[in-house]
Amino acid sequence: GLFKSYFHSSAVTQIKQLGVVGAGQMGIGIALVGAKVAQLPVKIFDSNPEQIKKGLKFMDELIVKDVSKDRITEEEGNSTKKRITTVKDISELSDVDFVIEAVSENVDLKRKLFENLDKVLNKNSILATNTSSISITKIAAATKRSEKVIGMHFMNPVPVMKLVEIISGLTTSDETLNITKKLATSMGKICTQSQDVPGFIANRLLMPYINESIIGIATREDIDTTMKLGTNTPMGPLTLADFIGLDTCLAIMKVLHNELGEKYRPAILLQKYVDSGLLGKKTGEGFYKYN
Ligand code: CAA
Repeated sequence: GLFKSYFHSSAVTQIKQLGVVGAGQMGIGIALVGAKVAQLPVKIFDSNPEQIKKGLKFMDELIVKDVSKDRITEEEGNSTKKRITTVKDISELSDVDFVIEAVSENVDLKRKLFENLDKVLNKNSILATNTSSISITKIAAATKRSEKVIGMHFMNPVPVMKLVEIISGLTTSDETLNITKKLATSMGKICTQSQDVPGFIANRLLMPYINESIIGIATREDIDTTMKLGTNTPMGPLTLADFIGLDTCLAIMKVLHNELGEKYRPAILLQKYVDSGLLGKKTGEGFYKYN
């Protein structure tokens, strides 16, 4: 009775509502699989209303395509849309059980956000970050609930890619880990677990590969064709870098460089592209031009 429920109230055991912070390509993808696959109500927050508008439009297009390709019925498309709402203030996330943060890859921004989320959220709620390289332990330390903070790293494009890397920080509880794995599974994903190390598994291996492709071994086309046809990967490294976003690639390389040393120094040309605002597919131009 009361006694038991008192002890069980220490954590959320069933997620009834999801929150997503950040309406960029990752946040929107996460919100979509949360609503469509896990069938959870999802609240999205982004401090930039323009980004929310753009994100929702993109999500609508993905849902329309799912329906037109008979992957879901029109009714399922409509109910998916109905499960997704947007909020104007972070305090409106107070009733969600699980928040996934997907803002840009900046440690100060993420720590500030986690500090604020910690203040407004129910004390039992779990706070996950989609960081691709920043220490979970460091982000968790900005809160008073570090046992309920965890890394949940989705791959781009989220609706298509099967993987989620899960990363416990130094003090993340097993209960938080188990709930997070269950959530990822209900979103249709397969989980791997990484140590809380710079870049985790995926970016520790992927980013040095991309960075190494920016040092001028051959033409961009020959570099990409070699890796695409020579190693059966869907995109060559330069195309993939454009697709991920050159600013994101640079931010991750900087974390690897700072934490792990000289071997990981970002390519000079990568920095130049970012400085010039050529960030890849999202800005219409990176190593290649897009329309
Ligand atoms: N959001 C949702 N769906 C998307 C999408 C996006 N941003 N981009 C592409 N897709 C969908 C397409 O709409 C298409 O769906 P349909 O089947 O409905 O048509 C599907 O993906 C396949 O796309 P295409 O047929 O156009 O092209 P493709 O066969 O080349 O597949 C791809 C596209 C899935 C992106 C494929 O090229 C691929 O797997 N590329 C490598 C992706 C990758 O490595 N991602 C990991 C990046 S690293 C990362 O994310 C971690 C990090 O921290 C940086």
